[in-house]
Amino acid sequence: MEKKIALLPGDGIGLEVMNGAVEILKAIEEHYYHRFHFQYGLIGGAAIDETNSPLPEQTLNMCKEADAVLLGSVGGPKWDQNPSHLRPERGLLALRKELDLYANLRPVETVESLLDSSPLKREFVEGVDFMIVRELTGGLYFGKPSERKVYGGEETVVDTLFYKRDEMVRIIEQAFELAQGRQKKVTSVDKANVLESSRMWREVAEEVAARYQDVELQHMLVDHAAMALIHNPKQFDVIVTENMFGDILSDEASMLTGSLGMLPSASLSSTGLHLYEPVHGSAPDIAGEDKANPVAMILSAAMMLRHSFGMNEEAEAVENAVKHVLDSGKRTADLAKKGEAPLSTTALVEEVKAALADDHAIFNIMEAYA
Ligand SMILES: NC(=O)c1ccc[n+]([C@@H]2O[C@H](COP(=O)([O-])OP(=O)(O)OC[C@H]3O[C@@H](n4cnc5c(N)ncnc54)[C@H](O)[C@@H]3O)[C@@H](O)[C@H]2O)c1
Repeated sequence: MEKKIALLPGDGIGLEVMNGAVEILKAIEEHYYHRFHFQYGLIGGAAIDETNSPLPEQTLNMCKEADAVLLGSVGGPKWDQNPSHLRPERGLLALRKELDLYANLRPVETVESLLDSSPLKREFVEGVDFMIVRELTGGLYFGKPSERKVYGGEETVVDTLFYKRDEMVRIIEQAFELAQGRQKKVTSVDKANVLESSRMWREVAEEVAARYQDVELQHMLVDHAAMALIHNPKQFDVIVTENMFGDILSDEASMLTGSLGMLPSASLSSTGLHLYEPVHGSAPDIAGEDKANPVAMILSAAMMLRHSFGMNEEAEAVENAVKHVLDSGKRTADLAKKGEAPLSTTALVEEVKAALADDHAIFNIMEAYA
């Protein structure tokens, strides 16, 4: 298969983890006889420095012509004082809007060999396997007005949580579709005791649920969900929620797996052009030190292989290679136990490449004898 992939490394550790993912994709090309055309584009702080725009036209056009987009991370203290239109995250928000990436899928699955890296006790996190479906193009992040102004002689500020009914319907439907292929349970998270938008969200969830009789629907207030993620995370299968609630809950959920560096994500559009990125940010505190955990980025590339290219076997090979490396006790600093020497980003990528090659060699031998 031949595929065009737009690569947007962004800022901070985005560059380092992107290099790792590209190495793994090159290994997949080699083992499975695919051809990936990689095209690099600027976004975020790097794009502001070069072009004075967080999402240059050239980057946007390149993405629109690609079969899938892989993104590292954006942001950093260098741009923190910039005016709002020149903030790195504006680039990412604009890209999500332009590509209509409305559904952010964030799988949270604990790995047996990393259970002791979680700050929670083993019995709480063992067997955790759920998916957060976060609405990505509406809600508190995009509603207008969003502004500060002097009103009645006082400095005031407003942010708006705005949704069209159809935006709620499509994201909740996405959650039900996913649940049908999983444990058939959707938890819809809202703040219906306070917010009108949440009361409409709840209504829509009930309407959608009526069309998916095989899937159980549960409503949960967001404050309760924040507690339940720690207290009893195994109860969840698919969680669907508003943009901002989803952002916060998925960072919280990352701790179940031991590190933010473990969580991949896929952002799906209705056009078929999807974007894949790790959940973590640009981690300025470790950027440039070859210390970042590349697993979230590599698993995001695996999600791309599966969801955008239908390469299920290849995606599984990457996931198995990562699991094999982690199971063998090799980890980056964020996951290493006390007294253990951590691997660098590049060393961990090399280990995953080696595991992929071994796995492929075994597969070839089995094929030959089949
Ligand atoms: N999607 C994105 O691009 C995105 C997401 C979140 C934050 N950000 C931006 O990133 C910058 C830093 O934000 P933050 O510090 O709140 O969040 P962060 O995710 O960058 O870092 C939080 C903590 O987790 C650690 N960490 C994150 N990813 C890691 C990895 N792969 N390996 C090892 N450790 C890792 C960091 O070292 C840090 O201690 C800000 O400018 C923020 O706006 C971008």
